[in-house]
Amino acid sequence: MPIQWFPGHMHAARRKLEETLADVDVLIEVLDARIPAASRNPLLETLRRSRQRPCLKLLNKADLADPARTTEWIAAFEREEGVRALAVCAKNPADVRRILPACERLAPHRSEPTKPLRLMIAGIPNVGKSTLLNALIGRKAAKVGDEPAVTKSVQRYDLPGLRSITDTPGLMWPKIEFEADGYLLAACHAIGRNAVAEEEVAAFLAETLLAQGYADRLTARYRFDPTGMNGEEIVEAVGERRGCRRKGGELDREKAANILLQDFREGKLGPLTLETPASRAAMIAAHEEAARVSAEENAQPTSR
Ligand code: G4P
Repeated sequence: MPIQWFPGHMHAARRKLEETLADVDVLIEVLDARIPAASRNPLLETLRRSRQRPCLKLLNKADLADPARTTEWIAAFEREEGVRALAVCAKNPADVRRILPACERLAPHRSEPTKPLRLMIAGIPNVGKSTLLNALIGRKAAKVGDEPAVTKSVQRYDLPGLRSITDTPGLMWPKIEFEADGYLLAACHAIGRNAVAEEEVAAFLAETLLAQGYADRLTARYRFDPTGMNGEEIVEAVGERRGCRRKGGELDREKAANILLQDFREGKLGPLTLETPASRAAMIAAHEEAARVSAEENAQPTSR
C-alpha cells in the first residue's frame, strides 16, 4: 500500500513557509537521525535553495540512532553547498548549546545591532522540533506531543544576543516520492497512527532491520534467529516469542506488530539507523531503473 498523507492545512503551511523563509538568515532543518534522508522535506530544500539560505541540519534523536551511521550522514550532508550538520539529542542541554554557535558560523555577517541573526526552525512532524525550540528559548513555546502535526501556527521568539527564531508548522509533502520513505516515516511515527496499517509497517521495519545488518538486535531482544526470514515471518516470530495469541489460539499479528514497532520507537532494540547514504543511493537507483523499464514497456507498440 503506497502511503500518502497530506492534510489540507499543509497547503497553507507551504505558503507560510515561502513567506517566512524570505526574512531569515539561517534555516534550521530538524531531521530524525534514524532516517536522515526520508525525514527531509524536499519542498523545504527546494525553497531554501531558491532563496540561497544556508542550512543547519540537525540530526535529532541521535540518542536513538547508530553513531557510526550518524557520522556518515553528517559527512554526506556537509558535502552539500551551504549546509552544516550536527547530531543532537533535544533533551540534552549540552547538545542544544551547540546549535546557536553553529548557526552564527553559517551567517557570520549577522548578529550586529543593525543586523540581528534571524533563524527559522522547520521539519516534518514528530522529529522533535518543538522539544528543540523549547530548549532553545528556555520555556515551553509550543505544544509538544507524540501525534504528528500538533504544532500549527507560525510564531517568532526572541533569543539571547540579538537573535530570533521563527517556528513553522509541522510540514509534510504532497507526495512521498519513494514508497519506502512512507514506511520509514511510519516506523519512526512521523505519519499518524490512522494513516497506515501497523502490520505492514512492522513487516517493512523487520525487513529493513535485516537488510541493514541488525539481525543480532532482533536475536538479542526476542531470542530467535531472523536470518532468511521475510518481514512478515519476523513479525510472526516476535508474536510467538511474546505469546501474542487470540482467544482461539490464533496468532495475534497486530499485537506482534505493535510490540516490534513500540520497541523500535522506544530504542529498546538499541541505537539503530534505517538508511545509510549508500543504501539510499541504491534505493533511488533501483527506483529509477524500475521507472525506466516501465516507461520502455509502455512505449512498446502493441502488436495485433
Ligand atoms: P515535533 O515538534 O517535531 O512534532 O516533535 P516533538 O518535539 O513533539 O517530539 C516528538 C516526540 O519525540 C516527543 O516524545 C519528544 O519527547 C521526542 N523527542 C524529541 N527529541 C528527542 C530526542 O532527541 N531524543 C528522543 N529519544 N526523543 C526525542 P513524546 O513521547 O511525545 O513525549 P515525551 O514523553 O518523550 O516528552
